[in-house]
Amino acid sequence: MSKRVAVVTGASGGLGEPICKAMYEQGHTVVGSYLPGTDKEALEWQEQMRSEGYELFLYPLDVSDFDSCGSFVAVVEKEVGPIDILINNAGITRDAPLKRLQHQQWREVISTNLDSMYNMCQPVFDNMCSRGWGRIVNISSLNGEKGQFGQANYSAAKAGIYGFTKAIAQEGARKGVTVNALSPGYIDSPMVRQVPEKVLESIIGQIPVGRLGTPREIGKAVAFLTSEDSGFVTGTNLSVNGGQYMS
Ligand code: CAA
Repeated sequence: MSKRVAVVTGASGGLGEPICKAMYEQGHTVVGSYLPGTDKEALEWQEQMRSEGYELFLYPLDVSDFDSCGSFVAVVEKEVGPIDILINNAGITRDAPLKRLQHQQWREVISTNLDSMYNMCQPVFDNMCSRGWGRIVNISSLNGEKGQFGQANYSAAKAGIYGFTKAIAQEGARKGVTVNALSPGYIDSPMVRQVPEKVLESIIGQIPVGRLGTPREIGKAVAFLTSEDSGFVTGTNLSVNGGQYMS
């Protein structure tokens, strides 16, 4: 295994943490980002990770802001090293049925979950291509594949990730850079635990495997897509959803 620099946005979140752990277990140098203004919580989390044996670099970053992403990439490449692996994981929900979905809720989700893909890939992509190796994993969602009641904003952003992923996968294909989407289903994470209990019960009833996914199952799937051996896998979507949607 080669030791590479792996960037994980939204590192301390429900999926970010297991992805960071999986990257570290693969032998990589892991750089996480966290939402500006949450320094105290982020540093506590970094300390917690350290106590579990995971050493991570951590920087504040608003992924919805293009200029901040460019500056973040420049700082990481200067202070840690060239970014070979990028996991675009940071994302939010602002759930509401369309009749109550406010314009601000639409904008926040589109800019955090979709604009962020461009904002982060654009400054790293050319450098990966020049070095002849790169792995990008864009975290989408089951609900981008099938749509979800109350998530017009989130489903639209997550579906947009597929087009973006397939387009730049073609641009990186001959340069050793793979770009894939990964679509988690309902995973036992804080985001999913926000869903009202009754609604969640009915959702779990629709999962053939009969349970929520575990965070570790997402980390391991990302580890495959970022491995040395996955060079022939590009422009695809890996659904990790317990069979809830089979496209
Ligand atoms: N299909 C059809 N009708 C539905 C429905 C569905 N899936 N869900 C709810 N409804 C109906 C209800 O039966 C209800 O009908 P009546 O008014 O006739 O009784 C009506 O829609 C209103 O439903 P709620 O009472 O739930 O409305 P609310 O305003 O209290 O809540 C909501 C709306 C916030 C969208 C809530 O339904 C909700 O949280 N739903 C879950 C959304 C969800 O799955 N989010 C995923 C978060 S996790 C994630 O996003 C991670 C990932 O990638 C998978």
